[in-house]
Amino acid sequence: KRIVVLISGSGSNLQAIIDACGEGRLNGQVVGVISNKADAYGLTRAATAGIATQVLSHKGFADRESYDAALVAAVNDFGADLVVLAGFMRILTPVFVGAFEGRLLNIHPSLLPKYKGLNTHQRALDAGDNEHGVSVHFVTAELDGGPVIAQAKVAVDSSDNADSLAHKVHLKEHVLYPMVCGWFVDGRLQMGEGKAWLDGQ
Ligand code: GRF
Repeated sequence: KRIVVLISGSGSNLQAIIDACGEGRLNGQVVGVISNKADAYGLTRAATAGIATQVLSHKGFADRESYDAALVAAVNDFGADLVVLAGFMRILTPVFVGAFEGRLLNIHPSLLPKYKGLNTHQRALDAGDNEHGVSVHFVTAELDGGPVIAQAKVAVDSSDNADSLAHKVHLKEHVLYPMVCGWFVDGRLQMGEGKAWLDGQ
């Protein structure tokens, strides 16, 4: 299966997915990486792995919808079966989400439905939570609101700050995201009736 990954930054999740494909743990191939930022380090990771990249800056587009239409075209140029958001820091409109619904995944650094949006680690600390984590979900038009597929938890210690929590969560992300992508490419995972279904359940 052909996987296209959208990034805006470091791309450590992208790297985890590339590695999983290379090691045969994920039965697919990252065929393209698209970034809205020209300086995203993930572009270097992709180039190092011999993967085609494209920068599509959101600047110069009149509105979100026209940017999203260009993004749809860019993803389709790569012939994507699965579209993976991995630190892509743009709010997507129904123009994009509707084009790929059911084969569009996101990873969000909180135990959804808690802490949609930004600064999730600090918000978990501020709330005094003793556990925190990461969620992979199907993307719908509602920001960080699509059906959750899988989560991984980390313990919050009294010594944790936002950086240490982010580090712990990232380690979990790098295991969880390739695993969920693998379920999808193996045909085990679907979205239907607003829910995520793994092996029909
Ligand atoms: C991750 O924390 C992910 O959960 C969030 O953005 C971050 C991306 O990190 N959506 P990276 O670019 O994959 O290192």
